Amino acid sequence: MTAPVLHVVGARPNFMKMAPLLEALARDPGGREHLLVHTGQHYDEHLNDAIFRDLGLRAPDVHLGVGSGSHAEQTARVMLAFERLVAERRPGLVVVAGDVNSTLSCCVVAAKACVPVAHLEAGLRSRDRTMPEEVNRIVTDRLTDLFLTPSPDADANLLAEGVAPSAIVRVGNCMIDSVQKHLPAARQSPVLARLGVERRGFFLLTLHRPSNVDEPERLARLVETLCELARRAPVIFPVHPRTRARLASLGLSFESLATARVHVLEPLGYLEFLALEDAASLVITDSGGVQEETTALGVPCLTVRDNTERPITVEVGTNTLVGSEPSALPPAVDAVLAGHGKRGQVPEGWDGHAGERAAAAIRTFLEIPRPGAAR
Ligand code: UD1
Ligand code: UDP
Repeated sequence: MTAPVLHVVGARPNFMKMAPLLEALARDPGGREHLLVHTGQHYDEHLNDAIFRDLGLRAPDVHLGVGSGSHAEQTARVMLAFERLVAERRPGLVVVAGDVNSTLSCCVVAAKACVPVAHLEAGLRSRDRTMPEEVNRIVTDRLTDLFLTPSPDADANLLAEGVAPSAIVRVGNCMIDSVQKHLPAARQSPVLARLGVERRGFFLLTLHRPSNVDEPERLARLVETLCELARRAPVIFPVHPRTRARLASLGLSFESLATARVHVLEPLGYLEFLALEDAASLVITDSGGVQEETTALGVPCLTVRDNTERPITVEVGTNTLVGSEPSALPPAVDAVLAGHGKRGQVPEGWDGHAGERAAAAIRTFLEIPRPGAAR
């Protein structure tokens, strides 16, 4: 029996990246067993179950149930549980995705167990180490054996860090495979009618980066800005649990924030969220994935950050970095409403086939004998 491949997911943005790869491997497993491992970093109905359902992602084969905690607690708990799993299953490869704490933890465990690692969405860099995800990206890519990259900037970053060109495979963007697959169903969703908004007649907002929401004064000013923007058009704001907790500590509940023109909601399912992204006049966000999805959909995106690990969305796509100062938002919104929003183009390789290319790269990688590795 050949050694299995363990595919790790933990948090919401991992699910829509891993789904297309798993589908492609289910069609052609290359003679291997492919197991889906969920660390349990995200666990609630809105961040987890609803997204799995909408993506049609199969139930995990193994659930580590780690839950929330500080960075060290969460990272350590995933490492302890994943180390036991690796010792039991002796995988031939561990596949991690993106840049969340689960990605880092499982990569470190695999590397120390001498199990090769493939990193889906390797090579992205914001060059801002105050972002916990940048630390996760750097450490993961120091230990990765097979780099599955979404864009040329990622390849260039890896080459500049000394990665061998032969270890890099540009597969394109798996998250956009999920967008393409699910957009027709999303467009059938009744969510616009349910919220009483019209196509191109509202703004969609998401905020969850610690740099925006963990600093009370910044968050309070973002809330003021949100109320100012709502004078221009209704704002739909699905609230991440981190943000909800920080709003609560400012004494702000959903009820106190909601008005006729501000829809404050629980995080939405993938199909409803995609329907709103596709129909919004513009999207305001600090999410990584939303910057990419808006570029794929051709919808203007204003990113409330000073930098991005996804520069191609700015250089080629529809994304504009407005910076972290909330007062920069209203003029940026007005510019889009005046017709100056970026039209953008969809980057090469964001074509709905990234999962197939990643699966092919993994099958090829597994064919090469590696001394000491489980086969
Ligand atoms: C994590 C990722 C971030 C990613 C985001 C996607 C890290 C370091 N951060 O941030 O890169 O952009 O997910 O959404 O990995 N909580 C719940 N229910 C859940 C999960 C979390 O209520 O199912 C609450 C808990 O209070 C928890 C807080 O949200 O403490 C933060 O969760 P955590 O997974 O630590 O980080 P995120 O902010 O979700
Ligand atoms: N998303 C969702 N419901 C929401 C908000 C976002 O399904 O209410 C999806 C979004 O379409 C994208 C992914 O979640 O596919 C992005 O994840 P998130 O913003 O949590 O993390 P990041 O990409 O910033 O790491």
